[in-house]
Amino acid sequence: TRPLKVALLGCGVVGSEVARIMTTHADDLTARIGAPVELAGVAVRRPSKVRAGIDPALVTTDATALVKRGDIDVVVEVIGGIEPARTLITTAFEHGASVVSANKALLAQDGAALHAAAVEHGRDLYYEAAVAGAIPLIRPLRESLAGDKINRVMGIVNGTTNFILDKMDSTGAGYQEALDEATALGYAEADPTADVEAFDAAAKAAILAGIAFHTRVRLDDVYREGMTEVTAADFASAKGMGCTIKLLAICERAADGGSVTARVHPAMIPLTHPLASVRGAYNAVFVESEAAGQLMFYGPGAGGAPTASAVLGDLVAVCRNRLGGATGPGDSAYAQLPVSPMGEV
Ligand code: NDP
Ligand code: HSE
Repeated sequence: TRPLKVALLGCGVVGSEVARIMTTHADDLTARIGAPVELAGVAVRRPSKVRAGIDPALVTTDATALVKRGDIDVVVEVIGGIEPARTLITTAFEHGASVVSANKALLAQDGAALHAAAVEHGRDLYYEAAVAGAIPLIRPLRESLAGDKINRVMGIVNGTTNFILDKMDSTGAGYQEALDEATALGYAEADPTADVEAFDAAAKAAILAGIAFHTRVRLDDVYREGMTEVTAADFASAKGMGCTIKLLAICERAADGGSVTARVHPAMIPLTHPLASVRGAYNAVFVESEAAGQLMFYGPGAGGAPTASAVLGDLVAVCRNRLGGATGPGDSAYAQLPVSPMGEV
């Protein structure tokens, strides 16, 4: 079987781990997919930077030319941000590639249009890594629970802020010191304002609400409050009440079943609640549905290797779909959702 060609857009914290795992797990990937996957090109901003394990001949600064080559089967977008990521993804579809992305900011803003582009060109758009790092959440909501009725999705979806809050609470570390450490560990966004002011968690809430409730929810529809004003004194008073403080994302179907809400803000959590024991950059999400009841998803929510795990899972799924001549579930349903902020469901 011919090798499936992969273009990697971005080779930073996540992309470098994707490339590493593609190499070290090459035999397993071939066995699971049914064909080898070949890294056909790596687009970056700084071509002279030394990148361990990457053949310099594959490195380019011309991401557009790479996605336009016409022989690329899957584009993995781990650049981040809105542009040029959005144009590169739509160009990839136009030139016959499927796309795997970790870009929650873009999906929360333009998810429906990107799904529509995937449908128009008969290609896949997968983004398990966009929400909660390594934790399988998008596909369980989109596929495993598609026959159930989800009423609530609630939890910790940002690793950086959980890391900071945990450090402040458990070691008395200052906010800036903890943020610097989270950045050094590769958890924070390129601009960590996205983490601490909860834009990142709000983007994830929008994506989760859209899939869980099958309606269109965008970043602007999500109530958002960051955690920059949480102080040591707040932790002390929370402790006095048997609580700690976590940044929560809460997406709910209204009691009358007719609309949904999504919000992100710091909240006091009783120390006895499972979310109180989520440490470091881990995430945890509760899903409540009519038939299944309550499910809890828990694991590493940020970082290069955990996020690459989710990207590689998507890569395998997309490659299998390609070999089977099919596309995965979800795109057409998502692309056709009505534009109704905090939508009627
Ligand atoms: P980094 O900043 O570490 O890496 C970004 C990469 O994109 C770099 O290799 C950079 O090149 C490259 N790049 C930037 N602009 C361009 C451009 N115009 N053309 C070509 N390449 C470009 O980011 P991360 O790896 O941390 O994040 C990538 C994506 O994954 C983001 O969407 C992020 O939200 C998401 N994500 C990140 C997680 C994490 O824990 N870090 C977890 C889950 C999702 P160069 O190396 O030359 O600077
Ligand atoms: N900056 C994000 C976080 C990366 O800390 O959760 C994972 O999406």
